[in-house]
Formats: sequence, structure tokens, C-alpha cells
Amino acid sequence: MRLRTLCWLLLASLSSALSASTQQPATTETIAADRAKDSILIVYLSRTKNTEAVARMIHEYTGGRMVPVDVVKPYPANYQATVQQVDRENETGFLPALKTKIADIGSYETIFVGFPTWDMTLPPPMKSFLSSHDLAGKTVVPFNTNAGYGVGTGFQKVKELCPKSRVLGGLSMKGGIERDGVLFVMEGRKAEEARNDVREWLRKIGVAARR
Ligand SMILES: Cc1cc2nc3c(=O)[nH]c(=O)nc-3n(C[C@H](O)[C@H](O)[C@H](O)COP(=O)(O)O)c2cc1C
Repeated sequence: MRLRTLCWLLLASLSSALSASTQQPATTETIAADRAKDSILIVYLSRTKNTEAVARMIHEYTGGRMVPVDVVKPYPANYQATVQQVDRENETGFLPALKTKIADIGSYETIFVGFPTWDMTLPPPMKSFLSSHDLAGKTVVPFNTNAGYGVGTGFQKVKELCPKSRVLGGLSMKGGIERDGVLFVMEGRKAEEARNDVREWLRKIGVAARR
């Protein structure tokens, strides 16, 4: 090999080594963070949109995919008729058919499960969802809104229906009071308080926040 060619080869390989070292390599942390973001699913049931608003707040911090749980046969618009129907469904263990089916559920690692308190427990549609999707080995993170009487046995039911999942401590907060005609409340100061509660809760349970 002639000397000039050898020099050129040396210079070329030196310059490519230098340019490689100036590129920003993807660190293990950034790769892990991206994966974690991609593998988050936020499923929620919401009739008057309060739980949905909390789901959106969680999403602001975690990213991921949001999916509402929809039933094939909608509940009555009338509140009392719905309460009576839910009461019957809980008594008989009836699980309503769902439109929602997440075919690639296996690809998510962390699954947020949001629901309003109905009849002081987990609403039948969310029982249907958890019964029809295999969450074994996944981290399940429940959250709830209610009319001021709390989550009842809702979080307990989530644990029972996800026996092979790691169920983290849930977040429960006051939402609307449909019985009294108070529907959507997650705006203004209430929304700010809720957002702070969400942020603090995510920090406490150790779920990575995006910001
Ligand atoms: C059928 C039905 C039953 C309910 N039962 C309860 C209850 O037992 N305890 C309670 O605190 N709130 C109860 N609520 C009120 C909801 O939990 C509350 O309004 C919640 O914020 C609604 O969430 P959403 O806007 O996401 O639907 C009930 C609401 C409905 C529609």
C-alpha cells in the first residue's frame, strides 16, 4: 500500500471515530424510560367524565395509551334506574358484555385501572374488563372517583380479580354527586387539586413521571 493511501485510510478512520464519539448515544436510562412510557396502559370507566379527567391527568405524567371501557348495552341515562340495575348485577354476579377488547394487552407492563365507585364497590363493567383480560405478571395501579363515600371495596375487588398481578396502592378522590345533579367537577381549582394529588401519588408509588 502506498504511503499516501495509508495516511488517507488512517485519517478517515480517525475522523469517523471522532464523529462517533461526538454523537449523543442512547443511554440505558433513556431507553428504559422510553420503554416504560410505551408499555403503560390507562383503562378507565367513566359515566360523567370525572374518572376520565383523572385518567388524563395521569396520562400527562406517564404517557402511554388511554382506553375507555365501553359496554355493549349502555346503562340507562336515569341515575336511579342505573343504581337499581347495578344493584341487581352485583347481587347476581352478572358481567355485562364489553365493546372494549385489548388484543395486545400482553405488551403492556403497567396498567392503570380507573373507575367510579358504584354501589360502594367496583362497577360491573370493570369487573367484566378485569375478568376478560389476563393481567398476570403485570403491575396494576387502581384509581377511583366517588361522591364522597370513598372507594368502598373497589380496590379490594381489583386485587381479587388480578390475583397474579402486583397491585399498587390506589388513589381515590371525590368526584361528582350525580344523585344530587352534580355531574362533572374536575375543572378550575378542583382540577388543580386533583392534579397535585395525582402527581404526589405517582411519586409515592414510584411510577415514573415524565415531568
Ligand atoms: C350507579 C352509580 C352508583 C354510585 N354509587 C356510589 C357509591 O356507592 N358511593 C359513592 O361515593 N358514589 C357513588 N356514585 C357516584 C360516583 O362514584 C361519582 O359521581 C363519580 O365521581 C363518578 O365518576 P365518573 O364521572 O367518572 O362517572 C355512584 C354513581 C353511579 C352512577
